[in-house]
Amino acid sequence: MTTLSALHDPDTYVDGPPHELLAELRRTQPVYWQEMDGEPGFWAVLTHADVTTVARQPVRYSAWAGGVVLENLDPENLEMLRNMLLAMDPPRHTVYRRPLAPPFKARTITRLEDRIRAICREIMAEARERGDVEFVHQVAAPLPSQVIGELFGLPREDWDHIHELAERNTSAQDPDMAGSPEDAYGPSMELAMYGIELAARRRQEEPREDLTSLLLDADFDGQPMSDVDFGVFLVQLVTAGNDTTKTMLASGLVRLLDHPDQLATLRADHSLIPGAIEEILRYDNPLHYFRRTTTEDVVLHDVPIAAGEKVAMWYTSANRDELVFPGAQRFDIRRSPNPHLSFGIGEHFCLGAHLARLEGRVFLEELLDTFATVELTGTPQRTRSNLNNAIKRLPVRLAG
Ligand code: HEM
Repeated sequence: MTTLSALHDPDTYVDGPPHELLAELRRTQPVYWQEMDGEPGFWAVLTHADVTTVARQPVRYSAWAGGVVLENLDPENLEMLRNMLLAMDPPRHTVYRRPLAPPFKARTITRLEDRIRAICREIMAEARERGDVEFVHQVAAPLPSQVIGELFGLPREDWDHIHELAERNTSAQDPDMAGSPEDAYGPSMELAMYGIELAARRRQEEPREDLTSLLLDADFDGQPMSDVDFGVFLVQLVTAGNDTTKTMLASGLVRLLDHPDQLATLRADHSLIPGAIEEILRYDNPLHYFRRTTTEDVVLHDVPIAAGEKVAMWYTSANRDELVFPGAQRFDIRRSPNPHLSFGIGEHFCLGAHLARLEGRVFLEELLDTFATVELTGTPQRTRSNLNNAIKRLPVRLAG
């Protein structure tokens, strides 16, 4: 028996996710009860089929009731979270998602390719000047932060600050990156305030062709979006879009450097890059889990779960489920099909999935075309987090 490390303990992930343990639990206790200190424990849902079942029943497994993270939030923060799409249930979720869907559709997102490529080229040119870089912050992070800045029409001088707030927002469990414990919700509050002020300012101006104008003009079942709603939305999009995408880019590089044969294959044949992005997402899913709360007594994989209990969809386990992915522990850029759950599934399927995939593909194309050699100059350091499966420092030399 593998030593049992607590699935919610951020320290469990510092040296990488406990894949051996998860594989064993999938076989023996696929709906696994995990105690927590000081608050009720949770059911970790570990197989691909069961995660899909939970995600596809958003009323029975509610995102709204207890939010989407394992740790119960205080009432004020739960209330704020409930204004985010991520933590709404139908029918409100359906009403809010409808006007947001068009700008994130594949066809609309495809039009951003040239702009994304131009941003990538600027980033690579700057990286070439440096040669030795800290890849996470100097190469990966600027892409999503600039893309989000442009999508929302945020003033350029604010982008770095917005990015820094988003990063602090998702790094509260890492003492290296977080502020004081009392400050845990400070960054999201500051971001929300920024959004509220932006909304008020932009209402006085002519509408532009950006997400801010679109949201402020949208009709949410007969109601316009309030400035406060807009602020909360901005927090969600900035947080959801920045850290996850940056993680995909950084983890992808580490994984390819670990598999030089597959990296060489990609260099020789760029048509394999979209498949490689999917495999990077499967193998190093940027988010470990999202939580739901049962609204009635249910039975999942023969396990009775009472109403009001926490249920966590453990993507890190579902993505390695042998029943769905043959040779699941093997990284294989040619894997097909690849129905990973890194963007979730069902009602809350990631709104930014097309955008993230496009950013991943163009970034990798430009990185490989710009640099003939990419090598590690130190050991990658992982973020201490039970939610973000991320690398916080990645020293790399880019040349050629
Ligand atoms: C590699 C990058 C990304 C990953 C791995 C990722 C992952 C996820 C996951 C797992 C969910 C589902 C949540 C659930 O079921 O509760 C989600 C939802 C969401 N994501 Fe992403 N995301 C990424 C990029 C983005 C980007 C670039 C944006 C926008 C700019 C974005 C915006 C959203 C939004 C708004 C939702 C909520 C959708 C809803 O509740 O209906 N994401 N994302």
